[in-house]
Amino acid sequence: YSKLKPFPEHFLWGASTSAYQVEGAVNEDGKGKSIIDMYEHPADVADFAVASDHYHRYKEDIRLFAELGMKAYRFSVAWTRILPQGTGEVNEKGLTFYRNVIAECRKYGIEPVVTMYHFDLPYALEEKGGWLNRATIDAFVEYAEILFENFGSNVHYWLTINEQNTMILHPGAIGLPKGGKLPEKKDMYQQNHHMMLAQARVMKLFHKMIPEGKIGPALNLTAMYPATCAPEDAIAAHNWEVLRCWNFADVPTKGWYHPLAWSYMEDRGIAPEVLEGDREILKDAAPDFLAMNYYSTATIAASKGDASDVAARAGDQQIMLGEQGVYRPAENPYVGKTEYGWVVDPVGFRYTLRKAYERYHLPILITENGIGAPDVLEADGSIHDDYRINFIKEHLQQMRLAITDGVEMLGYCPWAAIDVVSTHQGYRKRYGFIYVDREEFDLKELKRYPKDSYYWYQQVIRENGSSL
Ligand code: BG6
Repeated sequence: YSKLKPFPEHFLWGASTSAYQVEGAVNEDGKGKSIIDMYEHPADVADFAVASDHYHRYKEDIRLFAELGMKAYRFSVAWTRILPQGTGEVNEKGLTFYRNVIAECRKYGIEPVVTMYHFDLPYALEEKGGWLNRATIDAFVEYAEILFENFGSNVHYWLTINEQNTMILHPGAIGLPKGGKLPEKKDMYQQNHHMMLAQARVMKLFHKMIPEGKIGPALNLTAMYPATCAPEDAIAAHNWEVLRCWNFADVPTKGWYHPLAWSYMEDRGIAPEVLEGDREILKDAAPDFLAMNYYSTATIAASKGDASDVAARAGDQQIMLGEQGVYRPAENPYVGKTEYGWVVDPVGFRYTLRKAYERYHLPILITENGIGAPDVLEADGSIHDDYRINFIKEHLQQMRLAITDGVEMLGYCPWAAIDVVSTHQGYRKRYGFIYVDREEFDLKELKRYPKDSYYWYQQVIRENGSSL
């Protein structure tokens, strides 16, 4: 291009967290247990009991977010703070906490972007079958109605479910019940169907209750490359892309499953049971935008047809496991990797944005993007995370190119606003713009320190990204 388009005028420069990873206070003020509280946790990494203690320090944190210049703060509501049993009795103290968080954001002109459900299903619902039980659909709608009633007038941007594709395809990524097994494939797709129905009903309800607001799903979307230009690799890569990404975005936006994914499920006898009326529910709802979590890309080769497909791993990422007879992950010599083995591919970000926009023609809000690293707190209180600055800078440059390509972008909320507990790699793997002084097990004083990336991002926001 001879000239790059600017970032839009009211671009939502922000950052993200999720309830169970940042709040702590897991047994306070009437909160019920979620699956996260009950799942077995590896002994060598931090659990979520105290996390970053945001529950008690949200005022200080949001003040720091305001000083950073954040225009949006994406956080999630813990379902179990509002409905400790997942349904039924409402916990007023839970409502008060999020009312306060939202008010604190508004005080500084920060737009709250609220995820309704970020991995932490109420354990009481899980005990009754979780997402395999259709009653969980009603519970989610009940919960949504309470959220919309209480916060609908102060929150314009809502996210239904965080990374449904991760939860369904890689349930182990967020932990397993004690002694638990991974669900069978058929059950996974049945759970998926129920989540899709729940999401559709909630989007419809939202548009009725808050016509001026905006709602959408938050999926982990990732472009892929065929390992070579062999046509078989291209077919395998397409299989991966559809099963891993588009099948999950097609249902909320187009009202039904991707035809290739449906054929795959039918052929294996793992298609969900669809009851009368389900199709209408899915057809009848639509999101206003697409939220997208982007970390890395995949490289996919043709299946070898045997169990070695599953064993083949590229990097350390859960999402890169192969599937026998369908595809196998391959290494990509053209991209970098983080210390944790995650592929770093800023150009792949532009590629993913183009593809997602081309398919859905919906404005895109980035709700996660970032690099996990063991940051070091220096004696003078500084944290020199130049790798994070580089990572975010390169991704923003590619996003600007995507905007110039014609992709409609609403905002950028990278992971994370402040250090949080990683999903399964503890506290050492940090993502925030703000350092929280605690170790894996030694909680210290949980003091906050802005990292170098904080000051850098502050400048980017001040200039609306013009010097990127
Ligand atoms: C996303 C999740 O998949 O990745 C976040 O929505 C998570 O909850 C983030 O923290 C980074 O993953 P991890 O495993 O490094 O914490």
